[in-house]
Amino acid sequence: MHVLGIETSCDETAAAVVRNGNKVLSNVVSSSVDFHAKYGGVIPEIASRFHVETIVQVAREALRKAKKDIADVDLIAVTANPGLVTSLLIGISFARALSFGRGVPIVEVDHTKAHLWAIYLEQKVRLPVVGLVVSGGHTNLYYLKDALNFIKLGATLDDACGEAFDKVATILGLRYPGGPIIDKLAQKGDPARFNFSCAELPGTLDFSFSGIKTAVLYFVRKQPALKRDSRLISDIAASFQKSVVDILVKKALLACGLKKTKDIIVGGGVAANSYLRKHLTEEAACRGIKAHFPSINFCLDNAAMIAGLGYQMRPQHTERK
Ligand code: KG4
Ligand code: ZN
Repeated sequence: MHVLGIETSCDETAAAVVRNGNKVLSNVVSSSVDFHAKYGGVIPEIASRFHVETIVQVAREALRKAKKDIADVDLIAVTANPGLVTSLLIGISFARALSFGRGVPIVEVDHTKAHLWAIYLEQKVRLPVVGLVVSGGHTNLYYLKDALNFIKLGATLDDACGEAFDKVATILGLRYPGGPIIDKLAQKGDPARFNFSCAELPGTLDFSFSGIKTAVLYFVRKQPALKRDSRLISDIAASFQKSVVDILVKKALLACGLKKTKDIIVGGGVAANSYLRKHLTEEAACRGIKAHFPSINFCLDNAAMIAGLGYQMRPQHTERK
């Protein structure tokens, strides 16, 4: 069975063809990120115009790379939520028009849950499992019974952790999106030099990242030479990143302990972070838990993950090929 995934929730226009839920035949992503960079964040109007201009080409390219025709598609899966409304609207309108015009069934997929399900494009992780989603818009801990049963255990009370990375990067005078830049700078910085801490929120599996962002802001205001001191910038990046990752790891492993699971899956853009990948893998291993991360291209926004979860949501009568 072939699923055409469509993803336009933010600044990536993406389409993919996935066979039987996990065989990725194509995965095309076209990003408008360069047009947003000078504003320090995504401008919805620019993102949605970009989707309008590219969605048809991107979907055609996904079919071409998969060596499939639209007639081979058994199901269309489209991101319906969460996301920028004007961006979602383009993907949903396109997918619905295609579904109606070609008589292909359609399912609407939750972007955040699809980030977690991305791991199943590459690995078979036993269920039930604890899942941590860390993206630009969300920081959620789930207990997954199966593809259709996600129980939320905790979430950020304010900023998402990717958002905190991006905001701290802006404070440090770095380019948007700041997550990958902070990751790189932190590799040569000293994480013990500064103590920027995240709120613990004891007794819960919730997170808060707005405090640490403000702490970095106030600190940076007192550093007039910041722009000329690359050592200082790297040390701030490393200290900030360590504090954010440490709390993510702590709560994720706490959730595994509470739910008695021996596996944890991670998804979303921040799952690409090298320190998170290393630290969670090591800390989990100390407790006999295996941490599973998707490849980097499946951490970031993509339509293969939408097709993957969409397949699990398929109406039974769509079983064809
Ligand atoms: O999942 P995603 O591509 O889009 C959303 O659904 O939001 O996540 C984007 C977020 C951005 O905040 C970006 O800065 C962050 O993921 N990100 C990273 C890294 N790569 C992307 N954050 C930290 N380290 C990275 N290597
Ligand atoms: Zn995303």
